[in-house]
Amino acid sequence: MPEIHIAGRQLSLPPGSNLLDGLLTAGVKVPSSCRAGHCQTCLLQNSQPLAPDDPASSSLSPEQQADGWLLACQCQVSHDLALTHFDPQHSALPAQISGLTRLADDVLELRLQPRAPLRYKAGQHVSLWLDENLGRSYSIASLPQEGELVFHLRLYPQGAFSQRIQHMDNGQTLYLSGVSGICHYDPEWADRPLLLLARGTAVGMLHAVARDALKQGHTGGITLIVWQRSDASGYWHQPLTEWAAAHPGVSYLTTNDNSGDQLLRQTGLVPRNAMALVCGSPAFVERQRKPLFMSGLARRQILDEAFIGSQ
Ligand SMILES: Cc1cc2nc3c(=O)[nH]c(=O)nc-3n(C[C@H](O)[C@H](O)[C@H](O)COP(=O)(O)OP(=O)(O)OC[C@H]3O[C@@H](n4cnc5c(N)ncnc54)[C@H](O)[C@@H]3O)c2cc1C
Ligand code: FES
Repeated sequence: MPEIHIAGRQLSLPPGSNLLDGLLTAGVKVPSSCRAGHCQTCLLQNSQPLAPDDPASSSLSPEQQADGWLLACQCQVSHDLALTHFDPQHSALPAQISGLTRLADDVLELRLQPRAPLRYKAGQHVSLWLDENLGRSYSIASLPQEGELVFHLRLYPQGAFSQRIQHMDNGQTLYLSGVSGICHYDPEWADRPLLLLARGTAVGMLHAVARDALKQGHTGGITLIVWQRSDASGYWHQPLTEWAAAHPGVSYLTTNDNSGDQLLRQTGLVPRNAMALVCGSPAFVERQRKPLFMSGLARRQILDEAFIGSQ
């Protein structure tokens, strides 16, 4: 059986078994959240790089792969591994909290001042770490030239990160790692209609994508549609209404799960040459595919990001 060396321990795990499950069952602490290869909180470093097509590392950057990083949740054990934990204090970028504002009872705006400039595009996501055991993915709702990094965080009553972050103060330090994600503006879309579909806290990052598009001279028109649980539950409605009114070529609409499909089928709302960015819960993202396909969009015209949380 393959042998796993980690944190001074040596374990034997059955070939083909899941590395994250095996380590947790053996009592080795490994942070995790999505278990789907998206959040990068289960990063471990092997002493050797894995094969380039190994699913445990194929979604990581070439630099991460060359350094032997792998995602434990995506790793099927097949050979011996000598592993080290990811240490955010050593390998991630420190950032000080510069603002914590409630946008709704269960939504927190977090502002961070990174210690060094971070290379990212509005709409991409990072792992935010409170310590070596607690990291979560959040999407960036700011533009690089704005200096501060902004995030919209849904607060869950049982959420480990939710419960700690809301009691932190300005000046305290978090750590950022793993900028990734495809839901960002591409200047090649300049003259194409841009359709942004958001549910819940995804409104923050898609509004940042829209602002980025305008900054880069987008001329094809922008439609931001926000799905709300009910008329009363939408946060940030007033600022978005004012922002849309101030920008010719921008439309801002709200809808809900009952009428959203119908809205998307309205003639002219989804032009055939549009680019659609869809972000929110996994169920929401999945549900929008059909009406978008029915409106004539091809797969390559739809980019999505599912906010997968812990189960
Ligand atoms: C690529 C990516 C980008 C993301 N961007 C954002 C973002 O910008 N803003 C944001 O608010 N979230 C975002 N998320 C989701 C966020 O990372 C998770 O919701 C996270 O698990 C919350 O951490 P927590 O410690 O507060 O809750 P956890 O301790 O992880 O979970 C505790 C409990 O809360 C509930 N819960 C947690 N997350 C979810 C969820 N997503 N859906 C339903 N129930 C849940 C479950 O009951 C869970 O058992 C993103 C996720 C991914 C993968
Ligand atoms: S990538 Fe492994 S838990 Fe999210």
